[in-house]
Amino acid sequence: DWTSDVFIDATIEDLKSKIGSDKVVMGLSGGVDSSVAATLIHRAIGDQLTCVFVDNGLLRKNEFEEVLESYKDMGLNVIGVDSKQRFYDALAGLTDPEAKRKAIGRVFIEVFDDEAHKIDGVKWLGQGTIYPDVIESVSVKGPSATIKSHHNVGGLPDFMKLSVVEPLNTLFKDEVREVGRALEIPETIIGRHPFPGPGLAIRILGDITAEKVKTLQEVDHIFIQGLKNHGLYDQVWQAGAILLPIQSVGVMGDERTYERVVALRAVGSVDGMTADWIHLPYEFLGKMSNEIINRVKGVNRVVYDISSKPPATIEWE
Ligand code: XMP
Repeated sequence: DWTSDVFIDATIEDLKSKIGSDKVVMGLSGGVDSSVAATLIHRAIGDQLTCVFVDNGLLRKNEFEEVLESYKDMGLNVIGVDSKQRFYDALAGLTDPEAKRKAIGRVFIEVFDDEAHKIDGVKWLGQGTIYPDVIESVSVKGPSATIKSHHNVGGLPDFMKLSVVEPLNTLFKDEVREVGRALEIPETIIGRHPFPGPGLAIRILGDITAEKVKTLQEVDHIFIQGLKNHGLYDQVWQAGAILLPIQSVGVMGDERTYERVVALRAVGSVDGMTADWIHLPYEFLGKMSNEIINRVKGVNRVVYDISSKPPATIEWE
């Protein structure tokens, strides 16, 4: 029978013999998978592993700083790269969801490659690929592979002649979490909701600007903190806020306002392939709506997404 301890010991042995004294580079996302994969590789080969964590300007509020700090606390040899402006420049004026994904993927590869070139004699690329990612990228007919280009699998540019090492590619998500807990990775990372690679760019419908990102970060922060403070975070598989490309009329004092609308989304799921909207308590939703409208400048209306997948998707883009 599968146990995390047996898996960890066998994997570390396997990584040691495979990698030997070579160097490995690996991109971290702040998510569970890459964090657990990096920790396993680090246990096997220590500082022969260099991790790269890119701030694409599309992460949650304070996420880059907080996660970078956690990685350092975990002993990982990690380089934090502030590339916000490079991503915003590449995204300027793009409105099509797939065009945004492609631009983000392209810039990520450029930034990552720049960093990888700074490491002398690197031979391997570490990846946090898990079993469902392998299945999904093999079955090109699968709905999300054709509808949305998930680019976090096999994102290896041709010009990098690196071999791939993927210690989690036989595991399901719950097993990855179990391994992560056994490796004593902080619960703030292990229990974290999934977050898409293109980040807030696919939750800002239409074109991306730094100002829109800031607005959405504030809204998302209030919602996620609210879920945590009300003991709801762990009952939800994924949650977030979406900035809609429309304005609506409101009233403040005796002034008419014409400001943005945000949607809140919270779903239950096992693997993201299907999902149900969560029946969050009305009282909680009301509280979130008030807080968001009172505290976030430029937002005067909050709606809650009550669509399940299928036929809706979890993300709006
Ligand atoms: P959808 O919207 O297809 O999302 O129901 C299913 C899961 O996949 C995530 N997602 C992505 N993750 N790159 C990613 O790394 C992407 O382009 C992407 N699109 C969606 C989504 O957050 C959900 O967990």
